[in-house]
Amino acid sequence: MDAIFEKVKATAEEINDYAIGSLEELEQFRIKYIGSKGELKNLFAGIKEVAPEKKKEFGQLVNQVKQQAEEKFNTIKASLGNESSASSKNSIDLTAPGEPITLGSRHPISIVKNQIIEIFSRIGFTIAEGPELESDWYNFSALNMPENHPARDMQDTYFIQQDPDIVLRTHTSNAQIRTMESQEPPIRVICPGRVYRNETISARAHCQFHQVEGLYIDEKVSFADLKQALYYFTQEMFGEGTKIRLRPSYFPFTEPSAEMDISCLICEGEGCSVCKHTGWVEILGCGMVDPNVLDNCKIDSEKYTGFAFGMGVERIAMLKYGINDIRLFFENDVRFLEQFTGIN
Ligand code: DAH
Repeated sequence: MDAIFEKVKATAEEINDYAIGSLEELEQFRIKYIGSKGELKNLFAGIKEVAPEKKKEFGQLVNQVKQQAEEKFNTIKASLGNESSASSKNSIDLTAPGEPITLGSRHPISIVKNQIIEIFSRIGFTIAEGPELESDWYNFSALNMPENHPARDMQDTYFIQQDPDIVLRTHTSNAQIRTMESQEPPIRVICPGRVYRNETISARAHCQFHQVEGLYIDEKVSFADLKQALYYFTQEMFGEGTKIRLRPSYFPFTEPSAEMDISCLICEGEGCSVCKHTGWVEILGCGMVDPNVLDNCKIDSEKYTGFAFGMGVERIAMLKYGINDIRLFFENDVRFLEQFTGIN
């Protein structure tokens, strides 16, 4: 009878010493000891031969060994499992489909700016650019806005602390002056670029935005030429049938000056919230270059005349694509930007 106790103890030692190095060996161990035809099951069956007063002790002993076997099985299973998943992490599945390389999109401001450039280049305009950090002369004085001129208040200006003579340009009109200083008429340029104003940021206004300036200087350039060039631009940009109207306005660098409206693209002139129920939306400022400006640039104002205009790129993009908040252009949220995928 003691022999059967000895057998259980020997099995316990065997289990303890059993070497397991792989999942296969682990399975063999399970079948040998824990499985339904395993040795521990046989040992339990041996309880028949045990004297009644020792049955309890025997039962407890076999249970202990069974527990020991199960614990060994579980610990080794866990460590082998981790190893195999760690090694599968490092291995490359060559049959897996590739990650797609997503194509970026152009920024809507670049799209619209390029469209404006393209349209004017078809009627002979070339690009001229000016600096964003500009002297008082090019940003204001040469444009017929001497120091203390009240029109300077129309453009809330960022000054450079170290040198109050330098500003972040408030408009692209500085490029007009630089072009007229360096080229002889006939001049036909458009000047795209970024401008800055100390505006409170809201859905309608930002402290940085983009403009495109236009300038045409030659003999006998008239207001009719200005109107025709702008009409051509609106038909190309917003579609045939878009109406224009010019309202008298004031800019120090043009005389006469005007603001141009187009018929509202949203309601087609019926009246809606975008056009404030007028049927018209303003898109640019323009006029005949003031002779004082030509003189400032040493261009003979008796011989030459010219027209100029300036428009906000954000404003045009908002109208064209039905965007209602200017801040979206500067946040670079890809959910906004990817809507322009495929547009050049
Ligand atoms: N510079 C003006 C502005 O930023 C826009 C403008 C108006 C430009 C009339 C022009 C012009 O060249 O003729 O408000």
